[in-house]
Amino acid sequence: MNTTIDGKKMGVLLDEDTIQSRIAELGREISEAYAGQELTLIIVLKGSILFAADLCRHIDIPVELEFMGLSSYGASTQTSGVVRVTLDLSKPIAGKNVLIIEDIVDTGLTMQYLLKNLSTREPASLKVCTLLHKPSRNEVAVPMDWIGFTIENHFVVGYGLDYDQKFRNMRYIGHVLNEEA
Ligand code: IMP
Ligand code: MG
Repeated sequence: MNTTIDGKKMGVLLDEDTIQSRIAELGREISEAYAGQELTLIIVLKGSILFAADLCRHIDIPVELEFMGLSSYGASTQTSGVVRVTLDLSKPIAGKNVLIIEDIVDTGLTMQYLLKNLSTREPASLKVCTLLHKPSRNEVAVPMDWIGFTIENHFVVGYGLDYDQKFRNMRYIGHVLNEEA
């Protein structure tokens, strides 16, 4: 695989098997945590759709899927912290067990906004499942109940994550290598 981003080589950070086996584990853990209950997954567009599609097939309790579109202003690899809702939930979540499905918690600003926004709607419970966590970049502490992988300070693409809206359809997660291609 010799994909490049802006002329820089991309390496494989997490391959397809590694991602899929971790997601199966997360699905089992989530099913156990909510055993005997129902769950609403709030899938944060666009980056989380591949993760959510695979994860929900490993959850064996009744789930509802809801989507929330969020976008943060700023350059393509930086978060400004100013978050805009581009698509809201299709119905209320009051009294429901809600699990946010996110692709990555980077600065934490998006998740902080989302938790604040959703908690005002009075769900019975509100938890977070993120595929990736970049602790070195966190600017605010956000609670994370399930983390797929904790990663170093790499800019990553693939498996839902984009660079300039591209690369989301890769089956693996790649990162930009330092040396020039
Ligand atoms: P935040 O900085 O935690 O607010 O992250 C906001 C959003 O930036 C994430 O949900 C991703 O969509 C995007 N993002 C952060 N880091 C990366 C990355 O390494 N690759 C691609 N998108 C990223
Ligand atoms: Mg995102």
